Amino acid sequence: MRRRKKPGSKEKLLSYEDYLCKEPEKYKGRWKDYFHEEKLIHVELGTGRGQFITTLAEMNPHICYIGIEIKEEVLLRAVEKAVDKGLKNICFLWCDINKIHDIFDKNELSRIYINFCDPWPKKRWVQRRLTHRNFLEKYKYILGENGDVHFKTDNEKLFEFSLNELSYENFRLNNITFDLHHSETNDGITTEYEDKFSALGMKIYRCEGVKRN
Ligand SMILES: C[S@@+](CC[C@H](N)C(=O)[O-])C[C@H]1O[C@@H](n2cnc3c(N)ncnc32)[C@H](O)[C@@H]1O
Repeated sequence: MRRRKKPGSKEKLLSYEDYLCKEPEKYKGRWKDYFHEEKLIHVELGTGRGQFITTLAEMNPHICYIGIEIKEEVLLRAVEKAVDKGLKNICFLWCDINKIHDIFDKNELSRIYINFCDPWPKKRWVQRRLTHRNFLEKYKYILGENGDVHFKTDNEKLFEFSLNELSYENFRLNNITFDLHHSETNDGITTEYEDKFSALGMKIYRCEGVKRN
């Protein structure tokens, strides 16, 4: 069943001017100016309700975080978390991940997180998967030297697909786990979807792909 949008969520989201960057294309190549800081920039694609990225931003004030999300009602929840925590090193973009090349310039990012993205299971949808080689090409361009992609999913087939695509695109694979919550590499920083799936006893798959220079 499709959920009805909450009335007023768009207006409320737009009112958080310190946390929502409304014209992200303007900052292409100069995101450090947006944050007024010479810090590393980490981006989460499909940030959802923001538990993961706001936890990281709180723990790592020396890094600037950008969360990208297309659904305003969901994004509003993420922004409210950042407001509640009084975070200064985070902003959110209400936009489509497909526009990422209009928003970030070559070598601008240090890390991209992709957590529990839509698996797009049918063959004809393969190019929509965020770990498809076409997306990985774009990530390679906007990631700087030794930049990396951190990927988590509950979907085994998508995970296998993603490992293959990362290898095809010449990323170096690190810290691959087929059961994160029983692995030494687990840092305990979870997303909302991760909490939901792991509570159901589902395995969480995780890997890192490091860009080779
Ligand atoms: C399955 S949810 C996972 C949310 C969060 N990462 C988590 O793990 O709890 C995927 C999220 O990606 C967002 N999303 C999907 N396609 C997108 C796109 N093209 N641009 C921006 N966000 C997108 C969805 O709206 C949704 O909130």
